[in-house]
Amino acid sequence: MNRVCRLFAGGMTLLLLLVTAVAVYAATRFCVDRAVEYDDRAARFKYGSTGGERASGFPYWIWQVLPEVCADKLPGPGYTALGLLFEPGKDLPIGVSKRRVTGLDRVFLNCAACHVGTVRDTPQSAPRIVLGMPANALDLAGFKNFFFDCASDAHFSPEYIVPAIDAARERADQGALNPLDRYVVYPLAIYIMRDRLLMLKDRFAFTEHQPEWGPGRVDTFNSAKAVFNYRWEQVDPRELIGIADFPSIWNQGPRRGMQLHWDGNNTLMEERNLSAAFGTGTTPPTVDYASLARLENDLLDFKPPPYPYPIDKNLAARGKPLYAEYCAACHGASGTDFSGAQVGKVTPIAAIATDRWRLDSYSYALAANQGALYAGYRQYRFKQFRKTYGYANAPLDGLWLRAPYLHNGSVPTLRDLLEPAGRRPQTFYRGYDVYDARNVGFVSAVATEGERRYFHFDTRVAGNGNQGHEGEQYGTELADTDKQALIEYLKTF
Ligand code: HEC
Ligand code: HEC
Repeated sequence: MNRVCRLFAGGMTLLLLLVTAVAVYAATRFCVDRAVEYDDRAARFKYGSTGGERASGFPYWIWQVLPEVCADKLPGPGYTALGLLFEPGKDLPIGVSKRRVTGLDRVFLNCAACHVGTVRDTPQSAPRIVLGMPANALDLAGFKNFFFDCASDAHFSPEYIVPAIDAARERADQGALNPLDRYVVYPLAIYIMRDRLLMLKDRFAFTEHQPEWGPGRVDTFNSAKAVFNYRWEQVDPRELIGIADFPSIWNQGPRRGMQLHWDGNNTLMEERNLSAAFGTGTTPPTVDYASLARLENDLLDFKPPPYPYPIDKNLAARGKPLYAEYCAACHGASGTDFSGAQVGKVTPIAAIATDRWRLDSYSYALAANQGALYAGYRQYRFKQFRKTYGYANAPLDGLWLRAPYLHNGSVPTLRDLLEPAGRRPQTFYRGYDVYDARNVGFVSAVATEGERRYFHFDTRVAGNGNQGHEGEQYGTELADTDKQALIEYLKTF
């Protein structure tokens, strides 16, 4: 071989080695798809993945630095200001899962974001974290707006985000970004994330014309319409406010076959969970079906914690027959026995007469759209979504933690729910987690605590009406002593 050929052969070998090395690096770096796994059920619920990071995940380091980069768009320091809950020593809040995918650690919301809340005995006590209860302090609208506003800001660019990531990694002893990440991966990720957020901002434009959600609430089914890219100007204005309270999700096993969601639009637990998985950022090809199935199994006998304050046993015993007489047919024999002729069925809106906006937000057209959603995935295709004409008679397990009450969270305590609407509070504060054991619900007269401001809920605003569930059948005409007895009994649920 002459010299030129030897040089050429050497060069080719080097090039081949280099290409192989790059390919191996790329394969090990970019083709991995692995969620952080948890062995115990509680950790899995709080931090486990349902696949949302694959399509919707934020790169972990971008998530970590955005509260600094866009600090002016948060009501206080960090994600806690939006009501996300951090356990000691954790870098991510409850309700955020992590997965290594597309070459990055990516994070997104999971079920626990909306289905884990806190309760405090007094303003001085430490909050108790309760899995399965409504996320009473989570300001999901604030969360969404934080990301949308940040993406629209000049600071949402590699010039600001990359140095912030370097600094954050420094603090976490992870060293600065390597050149590939610094000059290629992160700039690309930042632009992709910005594009996607701005696209979503446009789709969620309906929220700009809505009353404020406040903490603990979300517009469930208009958000679904946003995913379907509905043209808002063509939607009936009566559909445009569907703001609903986060529900509790205990005891899914005994709920099998019931018509659930607030308006009872679906009878099949698996479909409700799959539909909920949309809330966690997944789309049909990206759901982690194995984790979702495991989660589903975990939720079958998820139990609410018992009422922790004193219960007057004699008084509760007097309330029991009242409950059986007035409430049991619709709400189940007790907090653990859900049998009853009307349980899991829908009471027509004319009879229940609560605020109808959430009911009207769910339309026949949306049901039809949902039916087409999983068309390519026959075993997962939605078959049970139906338009209904009222609200569901649900079991009342863990009732003490489900305040404020009704589907729109418009009545702060059980005591208030047993009054006719004219005597229920017209306005109150939401988002405070100190318990009011006397009236059964959260203290609702506190406007601020330190830096934190609570949400002023006005029942006169569209979608927030506190009327309905009134009249003899609903206990609002009982004598005061009977109401007290009924409430005492409901504490055992
Ligand atoms: C973005 C907040 C959010 C996330 C995330 C979320 N949910 Fe929900 N969930 C809700 C709301 C709100 C409702 C009530 C919907 C309605 O009827 O308007 C609900 C309803 C439910 C129900 C029916 C409750 C009932 O009795 O009517 C179940 C079960 C449920 N969710 C399970 C899950 C599971 C499992 C996940 C994770 C895969 C999840 N949710 C994720 C907000 C959320
Ligand atoms: C005819 C059926 C029916 C009867 C009888 C009935 N309810 Fe209800 N109840 C409902 C429906 C439907 C809802 C949901 C209404 C809504 O959210 O708009 C509801 C909601 C509730 C809620 C709020 C649950 C939550 O998670 O926010 C409580 C508490 C409640 N009922 C207690 C009672 C009590 C106590 C009685 C008896 C004095 C009673 N109900 C009688 C149908 C009934």
